[in-house]
Amino acid sequence: MITRALRSVPRVFVWMIGYAKKTVHRVRVHGVARTAAEVSAGIRNVIAWLAEQWFDSTRGIDTAGRVLLYKADGPPETNPLYLDYQPTPVRTMRALLRQLDPGMRASTFVDFGSGKGRVLLLASEFHFTRVIGVEFDEELHRTACKNIGAFRGRRQCRDVESVLGRAEEFAVPSDDLVLYFFHPFEAAIMERILNNVVRSYRENPRKILLLLFRASHADLVERFTEFRRLPVKDLPYDVVRLSSDYRYVTGAPYDAAVFVAG
Ligand SMILES: C[S@@+](CC[C@H](N)C(=O)[O-])C[C@H]1O[C@@H](n2cnc3c(N)ncnc32)[C@H](O)[C@@H]1O
Repeated sequence: MITRALRSVPRVFVWMIGYAKKTVHRVRVHGVARTAAEVSAGIRNVIAWLAEQWFDSTRGIDTAGRVLLYKADGPPETNPLYLDYQPTPVRTMRALLRQLDPGMRASTFVDFGSGKGRVLLLASEFHFTRVIGVEFDEELHRTACKNIGAFRGRRQCRDVESVLGRAEEFAVPSDDLVLYFFHPFEAAIMERILNNVVRSYRENPRKILLLLFRASHADLVERFTEFRRLPVKDLPYDVVRLSSDYRYVTGAPYDAAVFVAG
């Protein structure tokens, strides 16, 4: 192993010289300020990528990276249902969960469109009574089940489950709820889910919290008088995703919205 590491030293050296040359060239072409901004964005991207890999490798799971769904159906612009798997950044999710009123943690947490289950595992670090994810892609659901079994992190909640199915057909549990959405669907599906949630609330009024990471559907929630919006403290919004040319990029301008009923 040590010999292999020593053998790679010249390669690292060559890479560093190449990078230095390219940087000098960039300074000449684009100037110091733009080059410095590009280099610092590059460093942030590498750090974010390492943080993603670190979470997975230290916990013995596989949740990082983007998975494209509906590959056979053509590119996103020709398929209005096109959606893909992209996990919530670890730092962002923890920051969001820490903002919750501690009383709300004694409730059931549901991730609508739970993918490989990262959010379920992060929620299990808190005192929820139950953590459920609903995911309609079979392969992602299978990975989530493996991840739940393999997770080596600290857990406060042991009742964690990934359910295979459509989020819009999921029967809303009758407990106090924290419902999480990382922009998993188009508005029409979100509306169906909100109707289910509100119907369940009217039949059985209780505390229900909605967490939307990427607040683009917040206007749909605002149509229901049962929900009022709560302030959200600053979150680290460093969404890590694969760009179309397979580089990790950060800093997508996603925001969050939190609503409460009851
Ligand atoms: C942006 S990813 C979010 C994954 C996870 N919630 C997280 O934040 O790490 C959206 C997920 O929703 C799933 N999804 C999309 N539409 C769905 C539906 N109608 N029912 C269930 N899952 C769905 C996708 O397969 C994908 O895994």
